[in-house]
Amino acid sequence: MFHIAIDGPGGAGKSTVAKAVAKKLDILYVDTGALYRTVGLYVKQNGADPKNADEVGALLPSLSIEVKYENGAQVVYLNGKNYGDAIRTPEMSMYASAVSAIPSVRAFLLETQKEIARHNSVIMDGRDIGTVILPEAKVKIFMTASPECRAMRRYKELVERGQNVKYEDVLAEMISRDDADSSRAIAPTKAADDAVLLDNSDLSFEENVEAVIAIVKEKVGDEING
Ligand code: DC
Repeated sequence: MFHIAIDGPGGAGKSTVAKAVAKKLDILYVDTGALYRTVGLYVKQNGADPKNADEVGALLPSLSIEVKYENGAQVVYLNGKNYGDAIRTPEMSMYASAVSAIPSVRAFLLETQKEIARHNSVIMDGRDIGTVILPEAKVKIFMTASPECRAMRRYKELVERGQNVKYEDVLAEMISRDDADSSRAIAPTKAADDAVLLDNSDLSFEENVEAVIAIVKEKVGDEING
């Protein structure tokens, strides 16, 4: 069993690349951002302020989050219901970022993340995977790209999903979310000391996947089948 931790800011391509790598290596892909997004959705459903630690904390006892794998894809259940792409809107990005700065939310989601890795080889992406969730992971990658490049990718992804957004708004939202995620007191976005830095601004998707596979082979070559 081996673990691959991928951290980095939003829009760096972590999830699409990690998904492809998971398929190639026949291991599980765990998208931890989806968990924070799901907490954000619940906070919104209940009309609470996502920045208010007391209001958010008071909702946690009535919230159950389950992660399942259906046809190889991760599905997150909020109190038994799958909300699909409703957690993927720009509004939910901001809600997720706000609730993720609250210590009780991080504590609430900690065990769910660790538990999946306890029983499976995984490639897990997020902000604190190499530093907090899987500090013992044999492969740690900090994946990043310029803000403009990341905003353009996120913009295209949202347009493909049929969302009506402007590039300038996506860029502004991305920069403000980066600031919030990397300056917060608890588990800020940060490369682990032993992480390999991968700036993919000038890489195609395939090159990015190959770069990750090369790092994985170097670190745990004898444990993978691919
Ligand atoms: O990766 P994402 O854009 O889906 O993440 C949404 C938000 O959740 C992000 O702004 C910060 C937070 N997050 C986090 O704090 N820790 C993680 N491991 C994953 C996401």
